Amino acid sequence: MPLTFSLAYSAPAAIDTPLLAVILPADPVLNEALADIDRQLGGAIARTFARRDFRGGRDETLLLVGGETGAQRVLLVGRGASPLSRTVARRAAAIAARQAGKLGVSSMHLLLADAGPEHIEGLVIGAAAGAWSYPDLQTQPPEKDRRARLEQVAVFASEGGEVRGALDAGVAIAEGQALAKRLGQMPGNYCTPETFVEVGHDIAARHGMQITVLGREDMAKLDMGSFLCVAQGTSQEPRLVALEHRGGPADQQPIVLVGKGLCFDTGGISIKPAPEMEWMKFDMSGAGGVMGAMEAIGRLKLPINVVGIIGSTTNMPSGEAVKPGDVVRASNGKTIEIINTDAEGRLVLADLLVFAKRFNPAIAIDAATLTGAIVIGLGGHAVGVFSTDQTVAHEVLAAGAAAGEPGWSMPMWDEYKEQIKSDVADIKNTGGRAAGSITAALFLQEFVDGFPFVHLDVAGTAYSQSDLGWIPKGPTGTPVGTFVEFVRARARA
Ligand code: BES
Ligand code: MN
Ligand code: ZN
Repeated sequence: MPLTFSLAYSAPAAIDTPLLAVILPADPVLNEALADIDRQLGGAIARTFARRDFRGGRDETLLLVGGETGAQRVLLVGRGASPLSRTVARRAAAIAARQAGKLGVSSMHLLLADAGPEHIEGLVIGAAAGAWSYPDLQTQPPEKDRRARLEQVAVFASEGGEVRGALDAGVAIAEGQALAKRLGQMPGNYCTPETFVEVGHDIAARHGMQITVLGREDMAKLDMGSFLCVAQGTSQEPRLVALEHRGGPADQQPIVLVGKGLCFDTGGISIKPAPEMEWMKFDMSGAGGVMGAMEAIGRLKLPINVVGIIGSTTNMPSGEAVKPGDVVRASNGKTIEIINTDAEGRLVLADLLVFAKRFNPAIAIDAATLTGAIVIGLGGHAVGVFSTDQTVAHEVLAAGAAAGEPGWSMPMWDEYKEQIKSDVADIKNTGGRAAGSITAALFLQEFVDGFPFVHLDVAGTAYSQSDLGWIPKGPTGTPVGTFVEFVRARARA
């Protein structure tokens, strides 16, 4: 991220800045800091409030022209009527950063009255999200026509011990999210299973984590017939990457994070329809989320043990590809009848969850763009949260809420299991259209042995097909925040 953050302790009116973004609640009034800036602008802010041109509604913005010195531009950003929180601050800062990008200013100051440490963390995460882009594959206009990119953000704070730590934590989480978003936005011919190996080595080297990388032959030796049948249709080497962050005592059972990393999902022999298939490059978002979380956890140096495991391949039709009706055997010995080759994520995750057991997990949480059914059920506003253990489900729901990645609890009742009974194998990989997200979760549960497990279906939330205002369409960074907040909360406990 070529974006750097700093703290500013001086009076906002005393600062020379190309852009001062002032985050304001609904029905704003001139407070003390604002009154000084208002004087510099010849009373423009007071008049704006009096005319009700700016009312402080959520995502509302108004740009005022400043002078030669002081604030050269003042952007009023509404945060709405809800009480100030980390996620409210995040959203407003993202709006400000997106505006900064449109204006082409390289530096911005953010002013949020009464910002405590958690709000400052939110401001950093939000500003980074709003400034995020993936310009790698687009030709840039000639220098003279180019708009500057936002490079520096200063956040006004009052002196205090926790503020510096909050800024650094915000940067750590923002970097993790930026990594997940970058991997998500990368086209399928750029983000391949090998990319996860490279990213894994990079994270391991910078944060002193242990890394394990498996390929096709290694997985064959471990009898991972479920994962490998998905990779049967591609000449690309499938990859399993495990990263170990050992921040806690040697004997402490780790939190294990597991991610689905389909670099592209055509559906295989059960091929998907052509319209919108290009979005299936995002089918690696669970794995991107695990990598992003490990990056953030490494930066935060959290005093707890965490293992991140991703399984990456590409689901392709070919003469060699797995077919409907085939039966494969997973590494725990269970046989699976393939009904639909497009239900491939659960096949990859099955062997990852068996593999997770060797780390003796305190808990395993997987994230996967697993089902279209969760998009129908919850749309883009909630992560589907599945667990047979309501205590840990609530823990994950709380983490998601804190991260601004809200989840919604879904049932995993035994009644639904009937749908995935097979006539020829132990289980089948799809259970029909009804309750498709639930039968997928129940399938995963069959490969979990002796540890608490939570499944996150992020098919509707890891990327957005429309502009959300505070972030553009494309990758959202979910589930990095949920993972990080969960691990942080356990590290504090
Ligand atoms: N990657 C898809 C799920 C998906 C769909 C993610 C839409 C994001 C948006 C997954 O591999 C899949 O194809 N699932 C099938 C399962 C079905 C065949 C039982 C689905 O949801 O249609
Ligand atoms: Mn699929
Ligand atoms: Zn898929």
